[in-house]
Amino acid sequence: MAKAKDTIFFCKECGFESAKWAGQCPACHEWNTFVEAPSQKSVKAAPGRAHASLRLTEDKKPVAMSEIEATVSVRTETGMKEFDRVLGGGIIKGSLVLVGGDPGIGKSTLLTQLCKNLSDAGHKVLYITGEESLSQIKLRADRIGTFNGNMKLLAETDLEIVESAIRSEMPEVAIIDSIQTMFSADTTGAPGSVGQVRECTNILMQLAKGIGVSIFVVGHVTKEGVVAGPRILEHMVDTVLYFEGDKHASYRVLRGVKNRFGSTNEVGIFEMRSEGLKEVANPSAFMLSGRPENASGSIVSCSIEGTRPILVEIQALVARSGLGNPRRSSTGIDYNRMNLLIAVLEKRLGLHFSECDAYLNVVGGIRINETALDLAVVIALASGYMDFAVDAGTIAIGEVGLSGEVRSVNLMEARIQEAKKLGFTRCIVPKGAMQALKNIDGIALEGVDNVKEAINKVRK
Ligand code: TYD
Ligand code: MG
Repeated sequence: MAKAKDTIFFCKECGFESAKWAGQCPACHEWNTFVEAPSQKSVKAAPGRAHASLRLTEDKKPVAMSEIEATVSVRTETGMKEFDRVLGGGIIKGSLVLVGGDPGIGKSTLLTQLCKNLSDAGHKVLYITGEESLSQIKLRADRIGTFNGNMKLLAETDLEIVESAIRSEMPEVAIIDSIQTMFSADTTGAPGSVGQVRECTNILMQLAKGIGVSIFVVGHVTKEGVVAGPRILEHMVDTVLYFEGDKHASYRVLRGVKNRFGSTNEVGIFEMRSEGLKEVANPSAFMLSGRPENASGSIVSCSIEGTRPILVEIQALVARSGLGNPRRSSTGIDYNRMNLLIAVLEKRLGLHFSECDAYLNVVGGIRINETALDLAVVIALASGYMDFAVDAGTIAIGEVGLSGEVRSVNLMEARIQEAKKLGFTRCIVPKGAMQALKNIDGIALEGVDNVKEAINKVRK
């Protein structure tokens, strides 16, 4: 019989496992993402941590669903409403949360603030750092405020020492900053390698569930290099949060992409200040601040992020191109969607975009993946191309189809109410949605059937 292989290949982007190396991952189609790591079987299980046998034993019998009692999980509030919102109402005891994001985006700052709030409220927290020295952490903490004795720090990268520190301190919440610096002696490979990252996460998961401590794990997102991306951990942890934003802008978005204890796709919005992160209570006003007056190529639309409507300004710059192949770029909106909408304008309105460079931007740097913004994108592009300014009190909401028709989207009313709250006076909406919106007052609704009608309405 062939000897069982003791290494396995993984895709470091999506975690796909294979016995053979491949240039392109069959699951996520990324190139050059396969790395070799010891297989789980060859990793010797440490005492007390052996994987449960799959065979049913006397005390492992199937139970009737009706006999199971649901325990109401206790949530600890973080003291930051935006953070609680993304977690689904607070921290669940014994949960493992991954906080991913680009290096330097503010993950350590966010978690240090979390520790401050929790320790101020009388909860015990332990912050384990493998990246910075204790005095570096102190420097950051000094910008944030004063900490009491409930917050303890440990600079360590050996996971066995980390584990025993957590067991002896028994904090309510522990932070591991970051998973890529931790190593377990039970596994081969350098810290940050796929095998190490997976094994360390496994140990932390069992620890969290075993003793009921909530653990936040920081993971840097890196596309290439030796450090394993946090993507491969997503399926192992309870909750995955991504902290994103433009490093040069001050806003930061905390996005839930997986949550076993709450809804996903919630976002929390923060602003990075010199004294740490500040919650943004009214993101629409924040996103619209500093809007230019009477400029062409700009219009506001409303996106639903999680359960919350957020107004965003869409800007387009359209300039004659000297190149045979005009330049296109999009920030905050899917590049292919922009090209599709440009093609709709070219075909249905006869605008010659093939002779123009076009740049599209969602101001504030927030990334939006919603077709509800299509109409605003089309208006911004046409306004940039024809060089007219759209009235500043106008907002446009609707999906644009390939024949240039304007279609209704979900939660129209919530979007329009948000615009009304922020003082907008006119809303261009799909005609098909007008009937359902007839009870809204205080803002003028104008229904349109297609892109051409919409542009005629906003063109002064
Ligand atoms: P950091 O939390 O160290 O990022 P990460 O852990 O994700 O790598 O924060 C990085 C940046 O945030 C750094 O460039 C400095 C800035 N910053 C502020 O602007 N204000 C502050 O109060 C703090 C603590 C950091
Ligand atoms: Mg950090």
